[in-house]
Amino acid sequence: MQRLSPALLQDNVPFDLIALIKTILAATKEISFRVSQAHLGDLMGSTLDENIQGEVQKKLDVVANELFKDILLESGFVKAISSEEEDTSVAGDKNGKYIVSFDPLDGSSNIDINSLIGTIFSIHKAPENMAADDPDMFKQAGNHQVCAGYVLYGPSTMLVMTTGSGTHFYVLDRTHGGYLLVERNIQIPADTQEFAVNMSNQRFWQPEMQSYINDLLLGDTGPRDKNFNMRWIAAMVGDVHRVLCRGGIFTYPSDSRNPEKPYKLRLMYEANPMAFLIEQAGGLCVTSKERIMDIEPTSIHQRVEVILGSKNEVEKCLSYYK
Ligand code: F6P
Ligand code: MN
Repeated sequence: MQRLSPALLQDNVPFDLIALIKTILAATKEISFRVSQAHLGDLMGSTLDENIQGEVQKKLDVVANELFKDILLESGFVKAISSEEEDTSVAGDKNGKYIVSFDPLDGSSNIDINSLIGTIFSIHKAPENMAADDPDMFKQAGNHQVCAGYVLYGPSTMLVMTTGSGTHFYVLDRTHGGYLLVERNIQIPADTQEFAVNMSNQRFWQPEMQSYINDLLLGDTGPRDKNFNMRWIAAMVGDVHRVLCRGGIFTYPSDSRNPEKPYKLRLMYEANPMAFLIEQAGGLCVTSKERIMDIEPTSIHQRVEVILGSKNEVEKCLSYYK
């Protein structure tokens, strides 16, 4: 099995970007270890704080964020970082060529039940004419990402990453301490009979999404004429990983529970990196109105509606909005 650097060189990834990716992965190896020891190291449960988005922070959220932040800011490779757990972007080295956005631990509600969680990251080039402490550097559409990926802290620690030459799977090999390439060029089947959505919110969705999901539930007695299975891991990393492995449609649709906050998932830390990975694997990632990676961000903590997965199924879902 190929090691990480030769695999990236094969995709013509520049040396400085490889060095940054390796820095990110060094942090994930430590997070992976801390996650596995959480109960033993008194890292279960919540802190007494909330993040900028009003969500209670888990102890492991904070540990993972600090690890990621410190290692990136000390590396000299990044001009700034932006994290789901930080109020605003944090300046790094003024000569850093890249900026990194990350969700240090996605699926926080799974932390206390020893279930699937992961780290999501997205890398853009740093604009040369902007100051390192200017958060507007991060207002770049997903189309401009040079790398995106996630690390799943599951039964094996797995890296899923793209630099624009396909989406590849790697596994952390603890015998030598590095990630090994296990599958190149993942392809998501265009058709599927599996969907992922938090059904408890159904009554708050827009009518179009309600009627699309209703038709899936009707199975072979309804217009789709086939039965669908449902899965919900409650960690986007886990649900997207299943879609990459065997197809499916995943959505966190807009809803009317809180008119101030119609969307749950974050554009920079969740939707954009997943969109890059999904599209590189032949799938689609959209809102009910547009392609996710075309969105011009207006703020770094912006949230967005997400519909992603098998191409034909996502198109079917969108047809309900026409
Ligand atoms: O980060 C937000 C998130 O935890 C996602 O990882 C996940 O898909 C979703 O929220 C779970 O939402 P819910 O709490 O509605 O199941
Ligand atoms: Mn998250």
